[in-house]
Amino acid sequence: MERAVVFLLLFSLLFFHKNHTAELDVVSDSRFLTEGDTLVSETGVFELGFFRPDNTKNIYLGIWYKKIPVKTVIWVANGDRPLPDASPLLLKIVDPGVLTLFNNMSTIWSSNTSTISRNATAKLHDTGNLVLMDLNKKIIWQSFDFLIDTFVPGMKIGRNLLTGTEWHLTSWKSSQDPAPGDITMRAHMLGYPDSKLTQGDMVRYRGDPWSNLQFTGISAYNSSLSFRYMIVINESEMSFSYSLDDSSIISRICVNSSGQIESWVWVDNSRKWQLSLSLPRDMCDVYNTCNAYASCSLDMIQQSCACLDEKRFIPKNEKSWGRGDWSGGCVRRTPLECKNGSVGFIKYSNLKLPDTEHTWFNMSMSLDECEAQCLKNCTCMAYANPDTSLKGRGCVLWFNDLLDMRATTQGNGGKEIFVKMASSELDVQSTSKKKGGAHIKIILPLIVSGVLLIGISSTCLLYAQRKRSNIHARGESLNASQNNEEAIHLTMFSFSTIATATENFSTKNILGEGGFGPVYKGVLEEGRQIAVKRLSKTSSQGVDEFKNEVIFITKLQHRNLVKLLGSCIRGDEKLLIYEYMPNKSLDSFIFAKTESMLLDWATRFNIIKGITHGLLYLHRDSRLRIIHRDLKASNILVDQDMNPKISDFGLARSFGGNETHANTRRVAGTYGYMAPEYALDGRFSLKTDVFSFGVLVLEIVTGKKNRGFTHPEHANNLIGHAWDVYNEGRSLDLIDASIASSFNPPEVLRSIQVGLLCVQQNARDRPNMSSMVLMLNGEGALPQPKQPAFYINSEPLVVESSSGIHPGGSINGITISEIGGR
Ligand SMILES: *[C@@H]1O[C@H](CO)[C@@H](O)[C@H](O)[C@H]1NC(C)=O
Ligand SMILES: *[C@@H]1O[C@H](CO)[C@@H](O)[C@H](O)[C@H]1NC(C)=O
Ligand SMILES: *[C@@H]1O[C@H](CO)[C@@H](O)[C@H](O)[C@H]1NC(C)=O
Ligand SMILES: *[C@@H]1O[C@H](CO)[C@@H](O)[C@H](O)[C@H]1NC(C)=O
Ligand SMILES: *[C@@H]1O[C@H](CO)[C@@H](O)[C@H](O)[C@H]1NC(C)=O
Ligand SMILES: *[C@@H]1O[C@H](CO)[C@@H](O)[C@H](O)[C@H]1NC(C)=O
Ligand SMILES: *[C@@H]1O[C@H](CO)[C@@H](O)[C@H](O)[C@H]1NC(C)=O
Ligand SMILES: *[C@@H]1O[C@H](CO)[C@@H](O)[C@H](O)[C@H]1NC(C)=O
Ligand SMILES: *[C@@H]1O[C@H](CO)[C@@H](O)[C@H](O)[C@H]1NC(C)=O
Repeated sequence: MERAVVFLLLFSLLFFHKNHTAELDVVSDSRFLTEGDTLVSETGVFELGFFRPDNTKNIYLGIWYKKIPVKTVIWVANGDRPLPDASPLLLKIVDPGVLTLFNNMSTIWSSNTSTISRNATAKLHDTGNLVLMDLNKKIIWQSFDFLIDTFVPGMKIGRNLLTGTEWHLTSWKSSQDPAPGDITMRAHMLGYPDSKLTQGDMVRYRGDPWSNLQFTGISAYNSSLSFRYMIVINESEMSFSYSLDDSSIISRICVNSSGQIESWVWVDNSRKWQLSLSLPRDMCDVYNTCNAYASCSLDMIQQSCACLDEKRFIPKNEKSWGRGDWSGGCVRRTPLECKNGSVGFIKYSNLKLPDTEHTWFNMSMSLDECEAQCLKNCTCMAYANPDTSLKGRGCVLWFNDLLDMRATTQGNGGKEIFVKMASSELDVQSTSKKKGGAHIKIILPLIVSGVLLIGISSTCLLYAQRKRSNIHARGESLNASQNNEEAIHLTMFSFSTIATATENFSTKNILGEGGFGPVYKGVLEEGRQIAVKRLSKTSSQGVDEFKNEVIFITKLQHRNLVKLLGSCIRGDEKLLIYEYMPNKSLDSFIFAKTESMLLDWATRFNIIKGITHGLLYLHRDSRLRIIHRDLKASNILVDQDMNPKISDFGLARSFGGNETHANTRRVAGTYGYMAPEYALDGRFSLKTDVFSFGVLVLEIVTGKKNRGFTHPEHANNLIGHAWDVYNEGRSLDLIDASIASSFNPPEVLRSIQVGLLCVQQNARDRPNMSSMVLMLNGEGALPQPKQPAFYINSEPLVVESSSGIHPGGSINGITISEIGGR
C-alpha cells in the first residue's frame, strides 16, 4: 500500500512535471527511464528507449541503432503487451534485482531474473545487449538470452545446455506489430545441429548442418563481405553465431513476418539497409521438395528433382516421377542387406547435406573411423563430415532416408556425402557423369502445386494439364495443393504446331495487338481453339517477365484465373498459349455503350464476386501467395458464360518465394489502378491489389473509367467523385444507366461501400480479400470507409512504366487482354 502511494506520487511527478529528456548510461533502482529518455551504450552504438512502430500509436520498450537514421529495432521487451498512447511509463530496477517496466502502477514487463541481488544495475552494451548485473558485475539477466526477430553479431542461436535457455528467433506479427508471429528460426539438435525456419508446424526452409564455414546454408553469401561463423558444440552449449571481419560494417539478420530470413547490411553512403540475401530463395530451397535420395536443381526457370544417380537409384513411383510428381522420392535399385561384406559406399559431391534429424555425430572422429562406424550399423545409411574446417575430423551418421538435398557447387557450400550401397552396385558406371551428348536433356519438369510443365530443350514444349472437375464442383479452390489427386493429361505443343494453328501467325488471326506483341487466335488440329501471345522480339516484356508469367500462371489453377495451356521459347521467339476466351475483356463491355447493355446487374455482381474469388485464391494460396500488381478491367477476360477470369501475370510477384522487391524501384502497372503507396514509393503488398480491386468494383458499378473520368463540376477522378456522392448519401446516383432497370439496391450499395473500403488512403485500413467475400455476401455490417486515396484528375508525379503501358495510352491495347475474340 505504501509502495503504491510512493509510485503514484512518483508517476504524477514524472508525468506532469517532466520537461526534459535524458540520455542515461545506467538504470538502477534510483536511476530510471521514462518516456523520452534513453539508455545509451558505452560508445553510443545502440540505445534503449520507448518507440512507436510506423503508423501506430502503441508504445514499446526496445533497442535500436543510435547512429542509423532509419530507426531499426533489434529487440523489444513488451512485444505482446503494447502500451497505449500517453500512458505514464517507467523503467527501473526493483528489488531484488528485477528490471521492471511500469505503466502507471502496473507491471507491463519484467526481466526474468532468477537470482536475488540487491543494488543491481542495467547497462546497454555496444553489441546491443542489455545486461543486468549485480554488484560484483555478475550477469543476472541479459536481453541476448531472449531474442526477438533479429540476429546481430554477438547473439547466439542454439541452446545453453546448462541452464536450458534456448536462443531462437521469432518474427514479429507484422512489420508494425512486434507481438510474436508464427515464424521461427531455431536450432534443431536431435542429431547433428542444423537450423530450421518454420511456420507453425511446417518447415519452410532448412539451413545446412552447422559448419564454421557457413551460415546455416546461407552459402550464397556476398563474398565481398567476409562473414565469420562460429559454432560451439560442447557439454555446456550448442550454438551458432556470426561476425564480420570488418567490425565497422553493421549487419543484421532477421526473420520477417512473411517467413523470409533476410540478411541486411547498412550502407553508409546511400544511408540505407541493403538486402544481401533472402531465404528461401527458390523452389529448391523449399523444404524437402524432392524427398528421399533425390536432389533438387535449378535450370533457368525450372526446378527439377533427380535421383542421386540414375543407375543406382530409381524413383519409387516411376510413373508419377515422370510426370513431375516427386512425392515418392527415390529408392536404391538394390536394397541393402544387413550382412557383413555386403555393402560399401559411393561418394556424391556438391550437395547440400541432408536433414540431420536422425543422425549421430562425433566431431573428433576421422572420416575413416566414420566409415567404419557406419559399416558396423545396419541402419546407418550414409556418413559425411559437415564441417571441413576441422582438419579432417568430424563425423555424422544418417539413420534414415536422406531428405532435402539440393545440388550446389563447392564454392556455394556443396559437400560430399558417402552413401551406403549394396556391393553389387559399387562398380556400376554412373550415368550422371556422362550426361549430355546424344542424351536428350529434360530441362523441366517443373512442379508447382501439382501442376506441371515438362519441356525438352531441343523441341518446344510439353505441357501437362490437370483436370479440374472437383474445383468446378466446389465453385472455388482455396488451396491448390489439396487437389493433387486430380488426373493429369499431357498435351504437347511444338513450335510448328502453333505455327500451323495460327496459319503461320497470319495477320488475319490477330485478336489484338498489345504492348508486348500480338495475340493470335489459333485452332489446333483436333479443333480446339487457343489464344497465342507472341511476344515481340523487341518487347519490353523481357525474358524475365516471360519466365515470371509462365512460372506464376502454371502454378495457378482456379476457375477465375485464365488458364495457361503451354509456353514455348525457341530462339528469340517466346510464345504463351492460353485457353481461348470467346468473349472479350471486361473493359470492352463496361466502358462501351452497346456492350454494356449486355451486362445486367446480376452479371456484374457475379463478375465482381468471381474476381474476388480469383484474387482471394492468388492472395491466400498458402504455397505461393501472389500479388498480381496489374489488376484492371482489360486484364479481366470473360468466358462464354460471362464468368470473369483474371489474366496477365507478367507483373505478378510471389512473396512466399525468393522475393526481394516488396519495394520496387520499377513501378509498373496501370495508372488509375495503382495504390498511392505503390505509385509513389514502390511499396506493394496484398493491399495494393485490394486498391486496384476497389477501383475495378467502382468501374463495374458505374461503367466509368477511374482514369479519364470527367465531371462538369469538379476535377475529381472516379474515386473522388464516388466518395463525395457516398458522403452525400446519394450512392445510387453512381450506377451505370444501363443497369438502371436491373439493379438490386442493397447489392449495389454494398459493392460501392466495398469499393470505397478498398481504395482507402491507408493500406492498413483496406480489408483483405477474405473479408471481401463475406462483405459481398452480405454477412455482417460493413465498416465505414475512410478518406480514399483519390487523385485530383491530373498526372500523378511518378512513374516510369516498365511494362510498355503508357500513361496516356488507352486501357485497351495491351498485353493478353485481347485474347477475347471479336
Ligand atoms: C493511474 O492509475 C490510477 C489508479 O488506478 C488512476 O486513478 C489514474 O487515472 C491512472 N492514470 C493514468 C494516466 O492512467
Ligand atoms: C521466465 O522464466 C520462466 C521460468 O524460467 C519461464 O517459464 C518464462 O517463460 C520466462 N518468461 C519470459 C518472458 O521469458
Ligand atoms: C545498496 O543501496 C543502498 C541504498 O539504495 C545503500 O544503502 C547500500 O549501501 C548499497 N549497497 C552497496 C553494497 O553498495
Ligand atoms: C556484394 O556487396 C557489395 C557491397 O555491398 C556490392 O557492391 C556487390 O555488388 C555485391 N555482390 C554481389 C554478388 O551481390
Ligand atoms: C564450451 O564452449 C564455450 C565457448 O567456446 C566455452 O565458453 C565453454 O567454456 C565451453 N564449455 C565446455 C564445457 O567446454
Ligand atoms: C561383422 O563382422 C565383425 C567382425 O568380423 C563382427 O564383429 C560383426 O558382429 C559382424 N556383423 C554382422 C552384422 O554380422
Ligand atoms: C569420439 O571419437 C573419438 C575419436 O575416435 C573417441 O576417442 C571418442 O571416444 C568418441 N566419443 C564418443 C562419445 O563416441
Ligand atoms: C545403430 O544405430 C542406431 C541409431 O543410433 C542405434 O539405435 C542402434 O542401436 C545401432 N545398432 C548397432 C548394432 O549398433
Ligand atoms: C519479408 O522478406 C521478403 C523478402 O525479403 C519481402 O519481400 C517481404 O516484403 C518481407 N515481409 C515483410 C513483412 O517485411
